[in-house]
Amino acid sequence: MTPQETPMDWGTRYAARMAGMKASEIRELLKLLDQPDIISFAGGIPDPALFPQAEIAQTYAQICGDRALFDAALQYSVSEGDAGLRQWIVSYMAKRGVTCGPENILITNGSQQALEFLGRMFLSPKDTAMVEAPTYLGALQAFSAMEPVYDTLPNGATNRTVASYRDKAGAAGGVLKFAYVVPDFANPTGHTLNIEERRELLQFASDLNIPVIEDSPYVALRYDGQEVPMLQALDCEDQGGIESSRVISLGSFSKVFTPGLRVGWICAPTEVIGKLTLMKQASDLSNSAINQRVIATLATTRFDQQVAQGIAHYRVKRDAMLDALERHMPDGVTWSKPEGGLFIWVTLPEGLDATALLQQAVEQARVAYVPGHAFFADGSGRNTLRLSFSLPSVDAIEDGIAKLGALLKKATG
Ligand SMILES: Cc1ncc(COP(=O)(O)O)c(C=O)c1O
Repeated sequence: MTPQETPMDWGTRYAARMAGMKASEIRELLKLLDQPDIISFAGGIPDPALFPQAEIAQTYAQICGDRALFDAALQYSVSEGDAGLRQWIVSYMAKRGVTCGPENILITNGSQQALEFLGRMFLSPKDTAMVEAPTYLGALQAFSAMEPVYDTLPNGATNRTVASYRDKAGAAGGVLKFAYVVPDFANPTGHTLNIEERRELLQFASDLNIPVIEDSPYVALRYDGQEVPMLQALDCEDQGGIESSRVISLGSFSKVFTPGLRVGWICAPTEVIGKLTLMKQASDLSNSAINQRVIATLATTRFDQQVAQGIAHYRVKRDAMLDALERHMPDGVTWSKPEGGLFIWVTLPEGLDATALLQQAVEQARVAYVPGHAFFADGSGRNTLRLSFSLPSVDAIEDGIAKLGALLKKATG
């Protein structure tokens, strides 16, 4: 074939939904921050110092050294996921108050894949997804590919009626489809819903007759305070079991072991798991068999130990950051005091713009954070920012917060 005269015009060939899939301005910005002298509070990733590297290497070696295990680990796996791993998740969920069976569990490539599946399963263009403001950016990205509109979940008492939520969704050209929440040590705020807030949310979802997606990748990382029952546990209790519950919960091994093996799960009524399994088949057939085997072995042998190490490690860093904020932030700046997870949410005085300040923070103070407005479906929250304490050392946390505090003192003038 001879070379074409007119070059391929890709833009005219993309499906309409691709218009909603744009590179996040923030993610692009953060790629530039990978310079050694910058103290970054931006990445929300786990500390590699905690990865159980020796145990992971040993487990792969064990599998590779056993012919039958190795054959199975290199083969296609069932779409629902490794049977032993699903059984371990069933006992883990029981400890969290959710009685279920392996038929209620689907293994996914991290909970991010679960979010993409759920968005695709529930949302037609113009349908409404109810989200918190702010919420997890990756969920907005997963859902936005389906061209939905967003409405904000009430935070405590609201003067909006149930009918007003339905009417708003109708006026947008679709229907209300689900509520999405990160109830434990949320990304980005670090906030945890208390038991009353959880009951209110379930009542709200029941009034609207919509499912609730409970995304809890940080739930095991609690540094202090009382554990709060999962939304799914509360709803199973009220509804008489998982098959009649409206809650779909997402779990992940990323924050406890490593995100590198990409193993997470969905726990839901059998009917929903059946549909999701079809999506899994169409998407990637199954998770990697060998990675699931490794995670299953780690979960069975050292889950509690790994969680305990994570808690001890991150608690010190969280305390260092809270302490530094207390000493270095000027009046008018407030922040969340998370009982777990990896994030602290900072609110600047009204009128300050955290995105505009980021450039100065990086260029002058050599400190980075994520501007908060990226986490709002409506782009509001310009005076907010997210700090993560997971990666920097305690000394770097002190140094970085002192520098950020000095910059904000100048900005608040
Ligand atoms: C709230 C939330 N959900 C889901 C994910 C995705 O995690 P993974 O796909 O690694 O399980 C993250 C990752 O940061 C997150 O913060």
